[in-house]
Amino acid sequence: MLKSPKFLWLIILVLLAGLGFMTNKFIFAGKTIPSNDDRTTILVTAEERTMILGEMRKFLETIQGITEATAKGDLETVATLATDMGNESPNVSPSLMGKLPIEFKSLGSATHGLFTDLGETAKGGDANAVLRDMGNLMLNCTSCHADNKFVIEGTAEAKTQ
Ligand code: HEC
Repeated sequence: MLKSPKFLWLIILVLLAGLGFMTNKFIFAGKTIPSNDDRTTILVTAEERTMILGEMRKFLETIQGITEATAKGDLETVATLATDMGNESPNVSPSLMGKLPIEFKSLGSATHGLFTDLGETAKGGDANAVLRDMGNLMLNCTSCHADNKFVIEGTAEAKTQ
């Protein structure tokens, strides 16, 4: 039997603090350490790194396809490539979700949104507008790369960051 309402309040407070801690840890903070080159080091498993770098290469392949098609004036292909990339949702496990800081997750999802916008621009038929959007979209690539890197947790590299 619980002794007093005060005791109940204490339990509630402890639970709320725990919830706040978990929310911060899994939704906002991610699993990061400072890096030796002014970026943030995100610690992941080897499989998670392989998976996310695979997604990155798909980004680059799409950018390549879009550049080539724009040069040929084939904006229909640009629209298809960009829209498909915009619709793709990377298969990120809950564990990896918990390791990615909130800025990383929002920049990643905004990048998919910009591909969708690029698809709409391409449907308008103006190649210069496509290039403008692409220059803008690629700022997401360059700014995220300037700020983040992946290192496999538990390795010697992770200890020398
Ligand atoms: C939200 C962050 C983020 C965004 C946005 C992002 N990247 Fe990356 N990307 C990374 C990180 C982190 C790495 C790993 C860098 C490291 O460990 O040194 C990476 C690595 C890569 C790699 C190397 C893949 C490999 O196999 O080694 C390529 C290519 C790449 N990104 C392309 C792109 C392109 C193109 C875009 C934009 C369309 C993009 N990325 C957007 C975070 C991002």
